[in-house]
Amino acid sequence: MKEMEVELTNSRLNGRLEVPGDKSISHRSIMFGALADGKTTIRHFLKGEDCLRTIDCFRKLGVKIEETDEEIIVYGNGWEGLSEPVDILDAGNSGTTTRLLLGILAGRPFHSVLIGDESIGKRPMDRVVAPLVKMGAKINGRNGGRFTPLAIDGSKLNSIQYELPVASAQVKSAILFAGLQAEGETVITEPQPTRDHTEKMIEQFGGEVVRRGNDIIVKGGQSFKGTDVYVPGDISSAAFFLAAGAMAPESEIILENVGLNPTRTGIVDVLIQMGADIHVQENNTEGEEVGTITIRTSNLKGVEIGGDLIPRLIDEIPIIALLATQAEGKTVIRDAEELKVKETNRIDTVVDELKKLGAEIQATEDGMIVYGKSQLSGSQVSSHGDHRIGMMLAVASLVAKGTIELENPEVIAISYPSFFEDMKQLIKK
Ligand code: S3P
Repeated sequence: MKEMEVELTNSRLNGRLEVPGDKSISHRSIMFGALADGKTTIRHFLKGEDCLRTIDCFRKLGVKIEETDEEIIVYGNGWEGLSEPVDILDAGNSGTTTRLLLGILAGRPFHSVLIGDESIGKRPMDRVVAPLVKMGAKINGRNGGRFTPLAIDGSKLNSIQYELPVASAQVKSAILFAGLQAEGETVITEPQPTRDHTEKMIEQFGGEVVRRGNDIIVKGGQSFKGTDVYVPGDISSAAFFLAAGAMAPESEIILENVGLNPTRTGIVDVLIQMGADIHVQENNTEGEEVGTITIRTSNLKGVEIGGDLIPRLIDEIPIIALLATQAEGKTVIRDAEELKVKETNRIDTVVDELKKLGAEIQATEDGMIVYGKSQLSGSQVSSHGDHRIGMMLAVASLVAKGTIELENPEVIAISYPSFFEDMKQLIKK
């Protein structure tokens, strides 16, 4: 295990940056490209480890995928173009690959086995397996199908009316993929709106999906047509630089071509509520919203976060916790139990690691409470193998006195391989 020393105390950050492509959209572009008829060309694809796992799985399923520096080209042959893999499909650290693939494989007429790394092996898959089994899927795994490895015997699926017990775009998307192959009309009811990239992509690839209130409705038997996809910058990656720009002295960062899908922009709303000097300019685009975000050094104040906002910023809570340590007053994050089943238990890992840096922070049943503003100081900390914890701790080095020794920083490549280069490029000491 590697260790990295990061000392950025009092650095000024200045400049323009285009963060890598959105992780959720990158995964889905490979999936729809593989299921469509004809060629799909993807630009600004995220070549992070998670999305490369999705490419690897679809190659094992018989789909031709070419990679160049600029583009990924997927040669889809429709649903029938997928063939039985002779090898195990390994999703690595990627929950999106595992869960969405389950929805696709459940209806394909062959046998497949899906595994992931140690973290994936602990994450609940029954939330996807249970509705798929109700649709007629045959999936077996450890603990009655709760954990990977999972063996799938594809079968004919029937449609379902399903109320999601948790607000999860991965579960919604898995059922959508199954519903697209099923007999009849599938209706999914969400407790709260979650990211809608799958729905947007169904339409982009020539399919049909209806949103009515909290219901998402798809008809089975749909086919798709290959198309060109531009993947906007990942707002979940941009979030680390939004926080960095707000906290570092005399700084201004301009983030270009960032995805601004309203189901993902909770971090912008929270920064505004915290009193940040932030400006958003939306471009005129069709499909996924894209724009420029400018952030400057800010005087921040504590906030209360909960309810419908949570799914719109679920992956940003680690970096929001760090921001809260630098905000005047108390920040309360509630309704975020889902953090416990992310790449790590992010309530525990955020609280434990920030405490090591001297933060006043406490875990609660469904979130955390942070008391600011506190002077952080360098210490030995760990990413716990979680990319977003690693990036949050690296950004903490901007406001901590002394050196942060970050264990296992290489995990950051799961979602942001050029994170440290991008950070360096903005530093104007
Ligand atoms: C994702 C959905 C979210 C998110 C994850 C990516 C997706 O997970 O945390 O990083 O691409 O659909 P849940 O569906 O578990 O909320």
